[in-house]
Amino acid sequence: DKMSLEEAKKLAAYRAVDEHVESGYTVGIGSGSTVIYAVDRLAQRVTEENIKVKCVPTSFQARQLIINHKLALTDLEISPHLNVCIDGADEVDSNLNLIKGGGGCLLQEKIVASCAEQLIIIADYTKHSCLLGEQYKKGIPIEVSPLAYVPIKLKLEKKYKGDVALRMAVNKAGPVVTDNGNFILDWKDFDQSLNWKTVNDDLVSWPGIVDTGLFIGMASKAYFGLKDGSVKTQS
Ligand code: A5P
Repeated sequence: DKMSLEEAKKLAAYRAVDEHVESGYTVGIGSGSTVIYAVDRLAQRVTEENIKVKCVPTSFQARQLIINHKLALTDLEISPHLNVCIDGADEVDSNLNLIKGGGGCLLQEKIVASCAEQLIIIADYTKHSCLLGEQYKKGIPIEVSPLAYVPIKLKLEKKYKGDVALRMAVNKAGPVVTDNGNFILDWKDFDQSLNWKTVNDDLVSWPGIVDTGLFIGMASKAYFGLKDGSVKTQS
């Protein structure tokens, strides 16, 4: 139910911020509903413990969260080295490989995470799985240059099977446009036994694909809030 799901997100977020953020850190701020709790906790620690942190956003949403909580906002131009990045995920498999980009922020999330010493994932109990695609049914998001969306869709369906759809906007007649001015293809009904490292390496080499929501070998630890009020970690 909704109540315990929100509580689970909050528990994971608070624990991750408490265990992975220290004064003097530059912190990457991810996107999504779980990250909201992480920013709440970060702002609390700044007020109560007087820790000093600088925050790099991974999206328009993250930037607003940082500004609204009166946290110090920076960017990769000023602060290219991050101590930690804290982000949510749509699915986490048993090897800490992730599907991200349900909120369409995958490109900036991947760039910022790649600049951090550690990527820490915060999630509720519904996000954990053995194989990618087992839990999350909305597909693997792939950010593409608008002019390439049809050829990429066809090539992807031909080479790797499954079903690829252009993500459409809600309350607008047309596609979702990312923070970077690109489109999103959602790739569903793929073969769950694919080698995701190989697939991702291949996909990012295709002209027109900007990046994928496959985060392979990037996360160092995940915190899952459970139904019983405890937190399970995976590393
Ligand atoms: C944003 O594009 C995604 O990568 C998010 O990190 C993901 O959707 C997690 O969001 P929730 O915390 O809302 O589940």
